Amino acid sequence: MSHADDQSSNRRDFLFYATGGTAAVAGAAAVWPLINQMNPSADVQAASTQRVDVSGVAEGTQLTVLFLGKPIFVRRRTQEEIDAARGVEMSELVDPLARNANLPADAPATDEDRTLTDFDGNNTGEWLVMQGVCTHLGCVPLGEQGDFGGWFCPCHGSHYDTAGRIRRGPAPENLHIPVVSFVDPGVILLG
Ligand code: FES
Repeated sequence: MSHADDQSSNRRDFLFYATGGTAAVAGAAAVWPLINQMNPSADVQAASTQRVDVSGVAEGTQLTVLFLGKPIFVRRRTQEEIDAARGVEMSELVDPLARNANLPADAPATDEDRTLTDFDGNNTGEWLVMQGVCTHLGCVPLGEQGDFGGWFCPCHGSHYDTAGRIRRGPAPENLHIPVVSFVDPGVILLG
């Protein structure tokens, strides 16, 4: 093989690997939701906390942060969103449990049991902090979408309300709420 052939062969190899690498990245993105179902071990979880400055989150907007490999939605809800969530009868809910790691496992999925108490000890319903992981197969739901004005998971069509409770579609559970509390007026602590 001549030197020129050798060089062109190397280039082809490089192109091949580069393309293969792109495919691997795309593949990884596609399977991420499944891997994401595997929770970190308890000791990793216990050792990990994260402070999040939420003072800049305007009403009606959401901050998304990554915590222990999962997206966390920090939503500062409007009064309309709060009223809509608090006006829902328990009998309308698909999943009757709060799924709130800060409360007993059998706590009911009232809006009050899903929202975060502020630094002054008031739970006005303004703050909703949840894992942004669809409880069906782990996709990341989109905010301010779906039939209930909350979140919508486009993967298989799950609709969550403004409290992140599953209302329609294949997801079996409300969006999970991580261990979280206010540690300053504008700062929350995850974990
Ligand atoms: S992963 Fe969300 S609906 Fe299937």
